[in-house]
Amino acid sequence: MKALLCQQYGLPETLVYTETPAPVPAEKDVLITVKACGVNFPDALIIQNKYQFKPVLPFSPGGEVSGVVTAVGDKVTHLQPGNRVLALCGWGGFAEEVVVDSRKVFPIPAAMDYITAATTLYNYGTSYHALLDRANLQAGETILVLGAAGGVGIAAVELAKLMGATVIAAASTEEKLALCKEKGADFLINYSVDDLRTRIKEITGDKGVDVVYDPIGGPLAEQALRSTAWKGRYLVVGFASGQIPQLPFNLPLLKGCAVMGVFWGSFAEREPVKSRQNLGQLLQWLQQGKISQHIHRIYTLHEAAESIRDLIDRKIKGKAVVKVGNWEEVITTAPPPSPKKEIATQVETAKQVLVINGLSDIKNHIGKTIGPGAWLTVTQQMINDFAAATFDFQWVHLDTEKAKALLPGGKTIAHGYLTMSLASHFFYDLIQVENVSSFFNYGINKARFISPVPEGSRIRMKATLTGAEEQPNGSVKLFLSCTIELEGADKPAYAAELISLLA
Ligand SMILES: NC(=O)c1ccc[n+]([C@@H]2O[C@H](COP(=O)([O-])OP(=O)(O)OC[C@H]3O[C@@H](n4cnc5c(N)ncnc54)[C@H](OP(=O)(O)O)[C@@H]3O)[C@@H](O)[C@H]2O)c1
Repeated sequence: MKALLCQQYGLPETLVYTETPAPVPAEKDVLITVKACGVNFPDALIIQNKYQFKPVLPFSPGGEVSGVVTAVGDKVTHLQPGNRVLALCGWGGFAEEVVVDSRKVFPIPAAMDYITAATTLYNYGTSYHALLDRANLQAGETILVLGAAGGVGIAAVELAKLMGATVIAAASTEEKLALCKEKGADFLINYSVDDLRTRIKEITGDKGVDVVYDPIGGPLAEQALRSTAWKGRYLVVGFASGQIPQLPFNLPLLKGCAVMGVFWGSFAEREPVKSRQNLGQLLQWLQQGKISQHIHRIYTLHEAAESIRDLIDRKIKGKAVVKVGNWEEVITTAPPPSPKKEIATQVETAKQVLVINGLSDIKNHIGKTIGPGAWLTVTQQMINDFAAATFDFQWVHLDTEKAKALLPGGKTIAHGYLTMSLASHFFYDLIQVENVSSFFNYGINKARFISPVPEGSRIRMKATLTGAEEQPNGSVKLFLSCTIELEGADKPAYAAELISLLA
């Protein structure tokens, strides 16, 4: 495969575009054919051996990819070849193929294109975590964003605005500030010509800013800290300037303010449930068009070193991205990850199975009640996998700690739609269809989620064949009134009419 390789540490000009053996996935890994790779600040650091992660030479930079899964290791259950995904690989993305730990790979919604998928998570994930979880930014507060037209900076501008804050964007050129204005900034400061403190005093009427978002460090940091309001929060996000500032400790004391670190990668690892909730919110805003990444330029893999050079030279507004290969975007709906392996360990089979032997046999069974079938245990793993497949990260499903304190029984609750989806599984458990050329479940009618299903509880289905309708083309629509029972509960978990088509 082709890749941009770092064979010895140095500046982007030392990177080599060359042929290299394709990587092989280990048992928990996923092999991805890369479609696009976002360009991020760590790419500039990692090739110079200045980053916290130090891969073995030679390696490709490129930590944020989108693409298609081409192979999975034996222990990977939630992804399969053909899935469209994004991945936070750390490095290895400026290449035609990359191997990634499956826990860092996420299916992408059908409507999301590869360029968006490779350019959004890292910047918006960092800035949303900083504003929400660290600064606890409130509507009506004022925030100063430094390096505001850079990758994380522009995401902070957009998100802070969406969260109801007044945004002061600060950057080094008028062109960069014009982009910040487009993204909703209320006030602009060009710190290469204006004095930062004076301008903040003018804008806030001496009060200062409630929050500082600082991805650049250097000499601006002390000026920004001196410009915070009483009980302000100073977010230490990065040091793009190359200088780690030394701050006088008397300033936080005098201002009653907090200097707080932001480390999104560590947060995502240590608090995966919260991180997934943030991701879910960001995806929702993306799909609603409330946030959108500004793409500075799309580079080819051959030009990838130039993209890192442009980043170092402060030429990039928003985000640069490398397109790998000569593909045209075709948006298709990916099949949901198969829960089969998980279910296989949890089920017994039904004691009695109704056999429908061909289309003409259907009428013999109308009115019959079948089941209940075998119990199935709804595990937290199933709930998590369902959330990952549907991007529905509500805490009631995922946050086991919060559930302990707040939910009846102290357990998380399965998604209603997960219970609904299991109706098909129970159908195959109760009814065996033979001697037909095709058969599929294609509709659900009158669905009701009646009782919540706590994690670890058991459910099973019973059903009545209520009718069959012959279609003009000779196929038959079968109507099944189904009830999914919840062990120990008076009321069922779910009831609906399941419609299947047999031909
Ligand atoms: N803490 C975390 O979890 C986390 C996550 C992601 C990124 N980061 C860090 O955040 C920083 C920014 O990342 P990014 O992806 O937003 O980078 P970026 O797109 O290159 O933006 C950085 C901005 O910093 C300003 N800057 C000032 N001095 C600079 C210099 N000497 N070289 C380059 N830029 C300089 C530039 O704006 P002006 O020209 O307008 O000054 C530039 O737009 C990096 O240090 C990165 O490692 C941290």
